[in-house]
Amino acid sequence: MKIAPSILAADFGNLRAEARAAAEAGADWLHIDVMDGCFVPNISIGPCVVQALRPGLGIFFDVHLMIRDPFSYAEAFAKAGADSICFHYEADPDPGRVIERIRSLGKRVGVAIKPATPAEVLLPYLDRIDMALVMTVEPGFGGQRFMAGMMPKVQMLRRAIDASGRPVDLQVDGGIDSETAAVAAQSGADVLVAGSAVYGKPDYGAAIAALRRACPD
Ligand code: DX5
Ligand code: ZN
Repeated sequence: MKIAPSILAADFGNLRAEARAAAEAGADWLHIDVMDGCFVPNISIGPCVVQALRPGLGIFFDVHLMIRDPFSYAEAFAKAGADSICFHYEADPDPGRVIERIRSLGKRVGVAIKPATPAEVLLPYLDRIDMALVMTVEPGFGGQRFMAGMMPKVQMLRRAIDASGRPVDLQVDGGIDSETAAVAAQSGADVLVAGSAVYGKPDYGAAIAALRRACPD
């Protein structure tokens, strides 16, 4: 199980230290939420912040684009130091061309779906993506309640990924804590994003360990 703390819940006045602290506390990936005030009703950070965080931080940068026009912005995030770029299926009428674009930039590619989007839309792309992200809250804000109703989508994608034989990560994002981590893991998720459940706790190491412990082997 990979644990990806979301810096959206970190202290933005101390972002470098916060990112480093999660890495040192045993995080597998750092989840970086990018919001444009258009695709979602909130604004977070852009490529220059990703670039500023990169030097001296070896942890895998898992960039979650909640923006319109990911095709045009992918390059800026690739140059800024993203390791993986995950965009929303709903953000482009031709997700295939965005996948190709990110791949051509030499980055890992993820595709995310909002709660109202059926998981089936991802099936045609499983042969060419590295990650599928099932949102377990409406994207835009941290600290929301986990939508257990998304688990059938996770289960379906787990079966499809296993059948494909390809190494596609299956990520869930939103409302993950020790209780919901277990539910998501049992449904087949193998990457857990956690904002408040890590950065909202006094001891990041203990928080990450608690999430890991909650998941069955
Ligand atoms: C929501 C973001 C999430 C968010 C998760 O739009 O994509 O990554 O930071 O925060 P928690 O874990 O607090 O729900
Ligand atoms: Zn996210």
